[in-house]
Amino acid sequence: MIIFKSKREIEMMHEAGKILASCHKEIEKIITPGISTLEIDKFVEDYLAKWGATPEQKGYQGYQYATCASVNDEICHGFPNSKPLKNGDIVTIDFVVNLNGGLADSAWTHPVGNISDKAKRLLKIAKESMYKGIEQAHVGNRLGDIGHAIQTYVENESFSVVRDFTGHGIGRNMHEDPAVPNYGEPGKGLRLKEGMVITIEPMVNVGSFQCKIDKNGWTARTVDGKLSAQYEHTLAITHNGPLILTD
Ligand code: MF3
Ligand code: CO
Repeated sequence: MIIFKSKREIEMMHEAGKILASCHKEIEKIITPGISTLEIDKFVEDYLAKWGATPEQKGYQGYQYATCASVNDEICHGFPNSKPLKNGDIVTIDFVVNLNGGLADSAWTHPVGNISDKAKRLLKIAKESMYKGIEQAHVGNRLGDIGHAIQTYVENESFSVVRDFTGHGIGRNMHEDPAVPNYGEPGKGLRLKEGMVITIEPMVNVGSFQCKIDKNGWTARTVDGKLSAQYEHTLAITHNGPLILTD
């Protein structure tokens, strides 16, 4: 069931999204070889507390951390840990901010020190593919238009899009209907309406799109051990076009 959001609810989500975006910018500044993802996780929790916000992922279905931190071949839901990040790594930091009940969800992939040209291109294409999807998020378009735009852009660059995880509706709960796939056919799927709030969050792989799940039951990584990157924004569908809430 799709829950439509009022102007007021969207404003509250936007306030949470502003804190989220500014926190991502701070993370970008502190990421350097030697820092651990657990230190980043702690930084995020402290940052949110300073703004009177809370990390919505902590405690969600037993998940224990404020952030997901997915390094190199990890696609998503990586557990923060105390291992120092190395020069040349890439790391996706994904988290959900709750400010007075308003939720916002966004992920960025960061380079650690100097990364390979291949990794640089992966980050660039993953980010651009998210914006290709967002461009399609107009009243009257369909979910397939979003997925198709992302998939064709990524595949034209000889990368692949993950199928096993999708974007989602978000509002009072972190995960609501509909699922927002990063692949699909134009003109197919649910029609977008004013008041929907969704995430667009393509996971882009250098090699195969297929995933395997670690023994911890959460962390997804590429089957071939090749790199994966992800960018995610939360956005509202409005008559004036997509309104990004996590910018
Ligand atoms: N932020 C993630 C998303 O984009 C959700 C993480 S699942 C959690 O959907 F359990 F770790 F919170
Ligand atoms: Co997220």
